[in-house]
Amino acid sequence: MFTKQEMIDRAKAVMPGGVNSSIRNIEPFMMWKEGDGAYLWDWDGKKYVDYNGCWGPYILGYNSPVVKNAVIESIDRHDQYGVGVTELEIELAERICKHVPCADKALACSSGSEATYHAIRAARAFTGREKVIKFQGCFYGWHDYVLRNCYTPADMLYKRNPNSAGMFDAAVDATLVCRLNDLENVERTMNRNKGEVAALIVEPIAHNLGCVKLSDEFLKGLRRLCDEHGIVLIFDEVITGFRVGLGGYQGICGVIPDLTTMGKALGSGYPIAFIMGRDEIMNTFSTNSEGNVSFQGTTNGHPACVAAAIATIDFLEKEPVFDSIFELGDYFRKNMQWLFDQYEQGVSVIGYGSISVPIWAEGPFNNHEDILRGDAEKSIAFRKAMIERGHYWAPAEPKRLTISYAHKKEDIDSTLEAMEYVLKEEGNT
Ligand SMILES: Cc1ncc(COP(=O)(O)O)c(C=O)c1O
Repeated sequence: MFTKQEMIDRAKAVMPGGVNSSIRNIEPFMMWKEGDGAYLWDWDGKKYVDYNGCWGPYILGYNSPVVKNAVIESIDRHDQYGVGVTELEIELAERICKHVPCADKALACSSGSEATYHAIRAARAFTGREKVIKFQGCFYGWHDYVLRNCYTPADMLYKRNPNSAGMFDAAVDATLVCRLNDLENVERTMNRNKGEVAALIVEPIAHNLGCVKLSDEFLKGLRRLCDEHGIVLIFDEVITGFRVGLGGYQGICGVIPDLTTMGKALGSGYPIAFIMGRDEIMNTFSTNSEGNVSFQGTTNGHPACVAAAIATIDFLEKEPVFDSIFELGDYFRKNMQWLFDQYEQGVSVIGYGSISVPIWAEGPFNNHEDILRGDAEKSIAFRKAMIERGHYWAPAEPKRLTISYAHKKEDIDSTLEAMEYVLKEEGNT
């Protein structure tokens, strides 16, 4: 058998960096053997309680029998046919339109980035305008329309910060960057660009900035301003969709966007995402004979992914998943905060529902500036110490700790015990 190092060498010989997505190349470099429920095993057989959940999709835990059996049953009968539609695709779109308040119609694609790309293109076609508003520090996918000003150092906040080489200049310049939870800033930007802004895209909880909550007042204000300026309001619910409730965060806050993107938990880790929204805008897609906004994709609505999504939604409809993960999330946050306070770490534990983030700074955290006040070095050192002790906390700042329905109170308690060990024995490393 190959050693872990030999496997990593093999990976790096044939894959740039040895991984298939840049965030996967973080130290310690992990080589996984398998995952089940709340746990992962590395190449050497060491077991971890996992708090990454592949950055969000695994709401039912890894290797969920509910999802796996539905996929097996589906691929036993179906493949992708490339013309027309199947019963499963209809059933899934019906469920989404039933649950998500903004969804008159819904279309499947294969990733969250594709969904946000389609949403912005449709908004541009619908309004006949080019500019897009996004928020500093927020990630809405990897494409040129939204990538700028996501991973921004303090001295580049709100400045021109493309975040990738090779970006199309015109796309970067057509994306305007606003401050979260600052309605005046958004209004000023809309007024300065009157009649030019097609869409405003916002994640209703900013999960790529730790877990910054957007106030109800701010979300309602965005709806009002978009209406006043004829701008398409897009909620990026790629993380919150089917993780905070069946109707996404819009089902909780009551602010209804024009378009919504969902992915991750919706398909329990299978590559499926959706764009959904108002009839008028959804009907501009070329799937409709009158539509002129190109919507294509060989793997869109693949039966394995559609079956995974139906099985996930079916389970979420019947079982008390949200109650359970919200309760466990509250328990985790409360006890983490207590421990950090006992050892006077100056840490604030923020989060919502199943997602928690410790930040090495005092709150409040309303925007990217606030999150950058956190001591990233201390956070990463603590995360690495937790990994050493068999609790996988992604060693990147300010990444989320995510729990699934497979996590039990005993898992959380064992993690709290490990935290106490690190705080006591290693003095926060
Ligand atoms: C809020 C948000 N939107 C969009 C995306 C892009 O989704 P995908 O990685 O499926 O392309 C992500 C991915 O992390 C995300 O967190």
